[in-house]
Amino acid sequence: MAAAVECVVITDDEQGYGLDLFCIPKHYSNDLERVFIPHGLIMDRTERLARDIMKAMGNHHIVALCVLKGGYKFFADLLDYIKALNRNSDQSIPMTVDFIRLKSYCNVLIVEDIIDTGKTMQTLLNMLQDYKPNMVKVVSLLVKRTPRSVGYRPDFVGFEVPDKFVVGYALDYNEYFRDLNHICVISEKGREKYKA
Ligand code: IMP
Repeated sequence: MAAAVECVVITDDEQGYGLDLFCIPKHYSNDLERVFIPHGLIMDRTERLARDIMKAMGNHHIVALCVLKGGYKFFADLLDYIKALNRNSDQSIPMTVDFIRLKSYCNVLIVEDIIDTGKTMQTLLNMLQDYKPNMVKVVSLLVKRTPRSVGYRPDFVGFEVPDKFVVGYALDYNEYFRDLNHICVISEKGREKYKA
């Protein structure tokens, strides 16, 4: 079992918030159960992750690798916070971005939306070894508590969440819900409406 990574833990009995308390696109109003992680909380946690990552990665040039498609919102927001730190603090780290290709002998920061079983990330990390990166760190916005986990734990985690299917903030269900700011739990109606 990997050492626990500190993060915001959302417990199994977390009720979330009623949809009427937040702004939800009308076209999804019947397709969601609850707001699970409001957008503002995602942003606040991401700001702190940026600081922790900067501290851990030193001064060497970083290639930030976005795992498409679900990771694009988190990737863009996290990089915006890292850029703000680069502008406003004594420490600053040159950074380039990539989506598929990788350069050798760099520090690599993999930015992922969600770790469920962990199989996807294990496969990606194995592939990455061919490029002999200097240092590889993984940041995932969400990690699911699931018995299906292979035991993989990223270096930085935004939120640990119960074993539920979540959408929004670029996380999708059959390509839908990426255009939703908050992370929400999908409703039965939503599952039925957008099933493949
Ligand atoms: P893993 O290989 O089981 O860790 O799966 C990771 C991938 O499955 C993620 O990158 C997502 O694309 C997808 N995924 C897993 N759980 C969810 C969820 O609750 N909502 C949206 N996508 C999910």
